Amino acid sequence: MRPYIHINFACSLDGKIALEGGIPYKFSNILDLQRVHKLRSESDAILVGINTINNDDPKLVVNPKYFESSNIPDAIVLDSKLRINASARIFNYKRKVVIITGIGTPDRPLPENSVAEIIIRRCNSPRPDMECLMRNINEMGYTKVLIEGGKSVLTSFINSEFWDEITIFYSPVFVGDKGISMMEGIDKVIKTKLGDVEKLGDGFLLTIKR
Ligand SMILES: NC(=O)c1ccc[n+]([C@@H]2O[C@H](COP(=O)([O-])OP(=O)(O)OC[C@H]3O[C@@H](n4cnc5c(N)ncnc54)[C@H](OP(=O)(O)O)[C@@H]3O)[C@@H](O)[C@H]2O)c1
Repeated sequence: MRPYIHINFACSLDGKIALEGGIPYKFSNILDLQRVHKLRSESDAILVGINTINNDDPKLVVNPKYFESSNIPDAIVLDSKLRINASARIFNYKRKVVIITGIGTPDRPLPENSVAEIIIRRCNSPRPDMECLMRNINEMGYTKVLIEGGKSVLTSFINSEFWDEITIFYSPVFVGDKGISMMEGIDKVIKTKLGDVEKLGDGFLLTIKR
């Protein structure tokens, strides 16, 4: 049985997840951050794409400022060419960092004395496809995985059948056409089921189920 896949992200009213050039914007308010960090604490692993790691350098941990928990979820990064920045902050915690890469990518030095256990898993295609990715996630024994972006990863998951729930926090701001869209390349009509719509401070949270 595959793990429960929960996709979560925050965006503007015009569906943008970052500013022009991928510059991050703080869409989440305090209530949303408390919700997201609780969600992280309940997850075995958090999955993101390599651009999110190399551009934003997130820690992908539960911050006690927002939610108290001793759980440090593992981090999973989709990185076809092992472009990951060796000083990325995800390596600074005692947990597994699983890098899913493509066929033929030459090994390159990754932090040797990292407190994290670094696991490289290779797929038989230049870019990890969803089947290979899900096989690897299953083999790791995870039961709940949180997908946090960015645009390409959100698109890959939503195009696939491998998701169970999506939560989107909408911040009351328009970013404009030059912002980075929440997804690009959805290749079919995908019907979903509306869950809750909840006001969260100055924004609102939309929950969608498969
Ligand atoms: N508002 C939010 O909640 C939020 C959250 C996270 C990120 N963001 C924003 O998202 C932006 C980054 O989005 P992005 O689309 O450029 O990058 P991304 O989704 O973080 O990473 C995409 C990269 O992952 C690699 N990849 C490998 N296998 C893949 C697969 N099966 N499907 C998709 N990607 C795969 C590809 O690079 P290789 O082929 O080189 O491996 C691809 O270019 C940043 O601006 C960040 O600030 C916003």
